[in-house]
Amino acid sequence: MSEGRSEELVRELFADELRAIADAGLRNNVVKTWTLAMRLTGVTDLVSELQSGQIYGEQKSGLAVEHTRSVTQIALGIARAIAVTDSIPVDLDVVAAGGLLHDAGKIFEQATESDHPLTGPLISHHFSGLYVAMECSIPREVLHIIAFHAREGHHHRRSLECHIVYRADALSVDALLRREVGKTASDVIPYAYLR
Ligand SMILES: [Fe+2]
Repeated sequence: MSEGRSEELVRELFADELRAIADAGLRNNVVKTWTLAMRLTGVTDLVSELQSGQIYGEQKSGLAVEHTRSVTQIALGIARAIAVTDSIPVDLDVVAAGGLLHDAGKIFEQATESDHPLTGPLISHHFSGLYVAMECSIPREVLHIIAFHAREGHHHRRSLECHIVYRADALSVDALLRREVGKTASDVIPYAYLR
């Protein structure tokens, strides 16, 4: 797949969320980051090739794009609510870019056909995500979210934007997982599946 086609695909898949980024330069660099990750790993179809991990022992494809979108939308909703109710300015561009890129490195963890040194399970997606994002001039506030959005971030200080994406990540997993295993919102699910 040509670089241009990959870029087009990323713009299509994340159209609504990209629109939430006001800064055109940042928006383009978010697209470039996903496109570079695709080129370095040889992945051409994010929907069918990018897995979202195991759900009850079953590998799931396709959900990674949906998860990325839902994390971004949930995070933006929380950020807007905080701005309205608490009068604390939250940088919506940072939240949207952080949501869109928080798991961009997962493509490296799952790539089997590439001999790029960041591919495979030895390097966590936080590191590979940081690498591609830095290569595409993503600002440090967003790099911080990529680095510390998950449990690993508990041992580090987080910005409010990063904390928002961390919570949105957990909520998105909870909601998607319930749907995938046929549970409702009022069902209780073991914590182990939500980590
Ligand atoms: Fe995630």
